[in-house]
Amino acid sequence: MGKYTISQTDFLEGEVLIGGSKNATLPILAASLLCPDKITLKNVPNLVDVSNMCNIISHLGGKYNFEAADELCISLPEITEHKAPYESVSKLRASFLIMSPVLVRYGKVRIPLPGGCPIGTRPIDLHLKGFSAMGAKIKQGHGYIEAKCPKLHGANIYLDFPSVGATENLIIAASMAEGETIIENCATEPEIVDLANFLNKMGARIQNAGSDKIKIVGVDKLHACSYSIIPDRIEAGTFLTAGIMCESDITLKNIIPDHIRPIMAKYSEIGADIKEGDNYIRIKGKCKGINTDIMTMPHPGFPTDMQAIATALLCTTSGRSLIVETVFDNRFLHIPELNRMGANIKVDGRTAIIDGAKLTGAKVKATDLRAGAALVLAGLVAKGKTEVENIELIQRGYENFDEKLRKIGASIKTTL
Ligand code: UD1
Repeated sequence: MGKYTISQTDFLEGEVLIGGSKNATLPILAASLLCPDKITLKNVPNLVDVSNMCNIISHLGGKYNFEAADELCISLPEITEHKAPYESVSKLRASFLIMSPVLVRYGKVRIPLPGGCPIGTRPIDLHLKGFSAMGAKIKQGHGYIEAKCPKLHGANIYLDFPSVGATENLIIAASMAEGETIIENCATEPEIVDLANFLNKMGARIQNAGSDKIKIVGVDKLHACSYSIIPDRIEAGTFLTAGIMCESDITLKNIIPDHIRPIMAKYSEIGADIKEGDNYIRIKGKCKGINTDIMTMPHPGFPTDMQAIATALLCTTSGRSLIVETVFDNRFLHIPELNRMGANIKVDGRTAIIDGAKLTGAKVKATDLRAGAALVLAGLVAKGKTEVENIELIQRGYENFDEKLRKIGASIKTTL
C-alpha cells in the first residue's frame, strides 16, 4: 500500500482543473450497455473504479478503448455472458448497476451481492423491490442475486429512502421496459440528472430527473451517441475545503457552481470568501474560523461524501461544531485518525462533536476514499509531517490528487 507524506503548507495558489464526475461516469457506463451501438463518453476521469467497470464490460462481451485521455468509447453489440464476475464486482459497489442492462438485454442476470463496506451496511433491498415491481423474478442465495424476466414492464415505485444507486438502477431498467414507470421519493442528485440526460440522448424518454418523482416511458431501441460527463462536485468540494483551510488564492475551473451550492452555503456561514463565475469559483484567504453545525442529507442537502472533509475543516476552527451523519450508519472511521493528529472530536451515535484544536502531523491510515482525502487536508495544516497510508483508496476517486495539490503549492510526496 502506498502513502502520501505531507508537510504543513503556508499558501495555496493557482488553478485546479476539476475532472469528470466518478459517480456520474459509473452509472452512465452501466446505462451505455443498454445500446448495441458505439457510445463515446467525454470528460471521463481516469480512475481505478472506471477501469474496474470497464473490465466488467469486457467480461460481458463488450469492447472499450480510450480514444483520448478523457474520451472513452464503449461497444457491446451482443451480451455474451450474464454472470458478473465476483472479483471485479466486489471491488466497487456501483458495479451492481450492471444488473439492469444485462437483465434488459439478456433476460436474466447473476450478480454477486455487493457486500458490506466500511461506511455502513448498505443493503440493496430498494433496488430489488423496484425490479420485482417491474416483473423480475428474483432469487437470492450463496452470496448471489439471480433475476429473470424476458421483458420488464413499467410500474409505480415508491422508494422508502431516496437511494442514489436504486434510483439509477431502476431508471436504466425502466428506459427499455414495456410502458410507463413512475419512481417516487427518488434521488435528485446531479448525477441522476446526468444519467437521465445521457439516456435521453440515446433516445430514452425520461422526464423530471432532478425532482423527487421521475417518469420514464420505455422505448424499444436506443442509439449511438456522444456525451460529456458533468464535473466532479466532490472533487471540487475537496479543493474548495483545502482552499479555506490554508491561506490561499485558488480558482477551481470546469465546475458547475450550482452543484456545490450546499457546500458553499455552509462554508460562507463560517466566513469563507468564495466568488463564483459561470464555470469556476475563486477562494481567497484562510477562513477566519468560527464553528457551525452540519447535517448530511440527500441532495440538495449537505452531501455525505463531504462529511469527513468538512470534519477536517471544522477541527481547525474555533469553538464547538456538530456534524450529524444521517445517510450512512458507520461513516466516522476517519475520526480516530484525525484525533491521532491532535483533533478533539467525540462521537455520540451519529453525531460528531468537534472542538477546535491545533493539529500535529502523525502517521494515519485512509479507511475509505473520502476519509483519506480528509486526512490529506488535515496534513496540509498540521504542524510537522503527516504520513497518510492506504492511498489506493484515495486514488479510487481523485485523479492525480497529489499532482493537483502540488501544482497549487502543497508539499506532498507520493511513495508507491
Ligand atoms: C452513492 C454514491 C456515494 C454516496 C451515496 C449517497 C456512487 C457510486 N456512490 O452511493 O458516493 O455517498 O450515493 O449520496 O454514486 N439504502 C438502503 N437500501 C438500498 C439502497 C440504499 O437501505 O437498497 C441505504 C444505504 O444503506 C444508505 C442510504 O440508503 O444508508 C444511501 O445509499 P445510496 O443513496 O443508495 O448510496 P449509493 O448509491 O450506494
